[in-house]
This record gives sequence, C-alpha cells and structure tokens, in this order.
Amino acid sequence: MRKNFIAGNWKMHKTTGEAVALAKDLVSALAGGPNKYMIAPSFTALDAVSKVVSGTNILLGAQNMSTDEQGAHTGEVSVLQLKDLGVQVVILGHSERRHTYSETDDMINRKVKLALSHGLEVILCVGELLEEREAGKAEAVCEEQTRKGLAGVSADDLKRVTIAYEPVWAIGTGKTATPEDADAIHAFIRKVVGEMYGADAAAAMVIQYGGSMKAENAEALLAKENIDGGLIGGAALKADTFAPIALCK
Ligand code: 13P
Repeated sequence: MRKNFIAGNWKMHKTTGEAVALAKDLVSALAGGPNKYMIAPSFTALDAVSKVVSGTNILLGAQNMSTDEQGAHTGEVSVLQLKDLGVQVVILGHSERRHTYSETDDMINRKVKLALSHGLEVILCVGELLEEREAGKAEAVCEEQTRKGLAGVSADDLKRVTIAYEPVWAIGTGKTATPEDADAIHAFIRKVVGEMYGADAAAAMVIQYGGSMKAENAEALLAKENIDGGLIGGAALKADTFAPIALCK
C-alpha cells in the first residue's frame, strides 16, 4: 500500500524569516497528519528551516543541486552542502530547471545518481509542454524523461525515488489536469517503471501530481488509484492553503 506524499516546493519565495514562520505553522498544522510530508525552501533558508523541522514528521527538501560533488562551479550547490544542512530529499528535473535553465535529461540523470549515492531521497519531475500534449506526445515525453532520468539507478536505490508528474501547462496557470487525465498518465508512468524494474517496483512507486493543485481539487486527484500525493507550488506558500491538502486522507 502506497502512502501519499505531499510536498511543498516554495520556489524562489520567502526570506529566511518568512520561511521559518511558515515552517513553524506547518509543524503544528501537520503534527500527526496521515501522509508523508516535505517542504523545500530556497537554499538560503535551508539552514534555518532545518532547525524547525528536525525531529518532526516533515522532511527537509532542496529544490535542485549540482551535477558535481564539489569543485569549481560558481553559483552551484553541492550534495555535500545540502546534506550538511540536514536536507533529506532533493527535487530534480523540475520543468523550470528543464525549460528555463536548459537542464538536459543527461544532467538530471547525473544529479539523480549523485543524490542517491549520498543517501538522499529524490523527487524526479517529468511532464509535457502544452504543444507536446496537443501533438499527442504527452506519454512519449514522460516515458523519455522517466527512462533517461532513471538510467543506471539500481532497483535498491529506486526505493528512494518518487516521481512527480507535472504537466508544464498546469504549473502556476490555474489549469489542472482532470483527475482522469492525470491518472491515465500516472498509470502510464507506472507501466514504464514496471518495464524497467518489474511489477513490484511499479506497484511501490509513489507518483505525485503537480500543477495548480489546491484544496478544492486535491481530494478528487488523490482519490485516483495512481495518484499518490502532490508536489505543490503556489498553494504551499501559506499554511492555510497547504494544510488542507496535506491533511487529505
Ligand atoms: P503550482 O502548484 O504553483 O502550479 O506549482 C506546481 C509546481 O511546479 C510544484 O513543483
């Protein structure tokens, strides 16, 4: 039985003080909650938020990380630095990284393998652009991003991977995939995982939905057989909007 995993991606929002205040509100609101939880503040707030969530039921996430362990990479943040701050999960391959900052499947795969080799959990994001969906290529895009993102990942390491299906056209736009459409892609991604790793790994794989998820649509999305949680942007920025999603059974 898969446990729903509800994660907040705070993107490039909040000063350290604002991040700490939200993290404290969430620690109270989600205490004893029925799901697995993670919040991913900006790098600048990780240290402070780490102290707030340590020992609670909320995991600390980072939004990205370098392809390299350390070295001359101005402006990048390494896996060692994240671990040093208590980070437990890293979001990789987010569509904003793929499409605004030109990250390739190969770069994302290197990051996935590096994070896993250091014991982190990974949320691997996949999802199609609007023009790809309209051209009937949604499944092909998700398959390619899943296969290339996971290339070389062992079955054992796969247990620390969550996949987030985030249709790019639904991110921050207010447009949500219908529960039926999202579930169909989730089922397809699960089939791809099954082809790569076998039926048990496919059945165990947690696949989150992301893209304008909010309290009003969360219940219907989470009720679907193949939707195992959410990766939430806008609605994760306030306890009042995140907690109702996070507390959905
Ligand atoms: P929104 O919930 O703001 O659409 O963002 C989704 C997302 O990109 C989470 O990673």
